[in-house]
Amino acid sequence: MPGSRITALGHHQPGKVLTNDDLAGLVDTSDEWIRQRTGIVTRRIAETESVTDLAAAAAGKALASSGLAPDEIDMVVVATCSAMDRCPSIATQVAGRLGVPSAVGFDVNNGCAGFCTALATADHALRAGAARHALVIGAEKMSDVTDWTDRSTCVLLGDGAGAAVLSHDPTGGGVGPVVWGSDPTRGHAVRLDDGWQPRFRQEGQTVFRWATTALVPIAEEACRRAGITPAELGAVVTHQANLRIVEAITRRLGADRAVVARDVVDSGNTSAASVPLALAKLVERGEAPSGAPALLLGFGGGLSWAGQVVTCP
Ligand code: ACO
Repeated sequence: MPGSRITALGHHQPGKVLTNDDLAGLVDTSDEWIRQRTGIVTRRIAETESVTDLAAAAAGKALASSGLAPDEIDMVVVATCSAMDRCPSIATQVAGRLGVPSAVGFDVNNGCAGFCTALATADHALRAGAARHALVIGAEKMSDVTDWTDRSTCVLLGDGAGAAVLSHDPTGGGVGPVVWGSDPTRGHAVRLDDGWQPRFRQEGQTVFRWATTALVPIAEEACRRAGITPAELGAVVTHQANLRIVEAITRRLGADRAVVARDVVDSGNTSAASVPLALAKLVERGEAPSGAPALLLGFGGGLSWAGQVVTCP
């Protein structure tokens, strides 16, 4: 069966670092509270860069690392929920920036599950022969949708982007079958309110309980469909919402040999960007070696989830 594989990764974050102490100057919070409840120490904030800028920077690095020419890319997919541009899509804007001349380009909005959803969508297109090389990007400027007066959410969010080049592979897949779905009955628990000036809101404890219980069987199913056990995973890259959630899922999964992405500590919650950002950094540092099976698991607004096992490039 033909499939697809990730051949290169890239990541980009803006230069401005926002510390917990900086936030304690804005709202009634403290470094101690934020570290204990979330594990977050810093996050990056884009002052001048747009979602398109962040996406293009990460995608440009992935494309350069792949060795492909821009005209070999025939699909660009951007996962984002914070982009204000509706049309043209962020994906076609990124294609234009990178000199990709004629790819199909579209955006995917599935909250923090967006990158894994986009990856599965591109994988299915490559399997079907509808494209040969895809750029799949997660990019968010969460600072645009943050209520900087709400201490329960403003301490969580950050900006950034991660990107993967996905190539057709006639011998089979480095991207395993996706497990995806949603629970709309709990859709109110994570949302962007207030219409044209949206603000991130969430029922933190509802999401926390759901994430630490319902997602473990989904992660197990992604491993089963990929033909491995959790104990065989080389890396676990879940959505970086909260360090306590990351560690609870990994512990319950029994992924004892896996290196675990903890990028939330440095980057906060970057929604659809968090999985590719964290994966790209693990691979760049050599912590997730080439050929290692890595579980990707996105979850968030919807409530939605998407996960698959991929082979590290
Ligand atoms: N600093 C100090 N105190 C605070 C802060 C803060 N930044 N934020 C809230 N508090 C207070 C609350 O007011 C409350 O005070 P009270 O007891 O006097 O009423 C107390 O701390 C406890 O608040 P909780 O909300 O119960 O705190 P909790 O331990 O649940 O931690 C958190 C909150 C970190 C948000 C946690 O619930 C969480 O991580 N949830 C999951 C988030 C998530 O995974 N989101 C993913 C989806 S994101 C997406 O899709 C884009």
